[in-house]
Amino acid sequence: MMNNIDVNKEIKILAIESSCDETAAAVVVNGRDMRSNVISSQIDLHTLYGGVVPEIASRKHIEKINQVIEQALSDAGVTLDDIDAIGVTYGPGLVGALLVGVAEAKAISYAKNIPLVGVHHIEGHISANYIENPDLEPPFLCLVVSGGHTHLVKVKDYGCYEVLGRTRDDAAGEAFDKVARAIGLGYPGGPKIEKVSHEGDPQAIAFPRAKIADGEYDFSFSGLKSAVLNYLNGCRMKGIPINQADVAASFQQSVTDVLVGHARHAIRQYGLKKFAIAGGVASNGTIRAAMEQMCAEEGVRFYRPSPILCTDNAAMIGAAAYYDFIAGKRAGLDLNAVPNLKLG
Ligand code: KG4
Ligand code: ZN
Repeated sequence: MMNNIDVNKEIKILAIESSCDETAAAVVVNGRDMRSNVISSQIDLHTLYGGVVPEIASRKHIEKINQVIEQALSDAGVTLDDIDAIGVTYGPGLVGALLVGVAEAKAISYAKNIPLVGVHHIEGHISANYIENPDLEPPFLCLVVSGGHTHLVKVKDYGCYEVLGRTRDDAAGEAFDKVARAIGLGYPGGPKIEKVSHEGDPQAIAFPRAKIADGEYDFSFSGLKSAVLNYLNGCRMKGIPINQADVAASFQQSVTDVLVGHARHAIRQYGLKKFAIAGGVASNGTIRAAMEQMCAEEGVRFYRPSPILCTDNAAMIGAAAYYDFIAGKRAGLDLNAVPNLKLG
């Protein structure tokens, strides 16, 4: 028993995620057993504008949220009467988008008298690793690479994090999205760069691998993005044809080398035998393969969620919410969206 909670009983969490452009709900039992995972993506809508439009995202979340929750409950074969707690992302993210999930979670919590747990979005991404790896327990190192974040984190315990390094400028996913736009691939950049890279040579163009002098685990991707833009401008000025696949593959290789280099350094320094990746960029096949190889070389066990659990989803929020719930953490009906919520 922890905080009067019988951890031998099945604890069913209804999780809600709406921090960016996915409206998602899931039912997760005891933090590991995913009974449903419903994701309504707005990608097609935002593709028209070349990126996420916050006002459109909020409006679409409002339209979809009830439907997505009903589907998650029905896929799991449960009703709200079976739910022990509601976990909801309350930051970081787009304020209007976050507010939709938070308001919905509070309304259900109040109407059905179900405890409420506020979840940090990055804590959710990290916890996605618990779902398919029943044996994974802290401590471990985790690299979270998404559209908004690039964090190298030491997971000391459930709900206890030390951020070792973070990006000083663009997030890794943001760099993928900006470079994709520059080479005419459009939104969303990550999957499109990955696809076209298969046709390109990753050694064709020597893009930089940034190092931060006063932050050994920090990242910087804006210089890489500028190097790609300069390369494209140089080609145009000299009338040299641009090989889109070579640019994409060389850029992807540069990001991969930096991520792997930092991860290897942290593994050696911290001596932890478990390393995980998380976030949308962690669904990239080249990055996954390079991380797996590096972990094998370092004698470290490698964990990564399935691609669908790397990009935004609510199952990961349910996994994180469970560990907060059994630790006694609760949110009140005054829970608010915190767009720049910090981790650790
Ligand atoms: O985790 P996520 O779904 O949302 C955030 O929390 O930001 O990550 C979205 C980001 C986008 O920048 C997208 O381009 C990137 O993840 N991404 C990828 C891939 N799939 C998604 N980046 C590289 N390769 C991919 N296959
Ligand atoms: Zn995310």
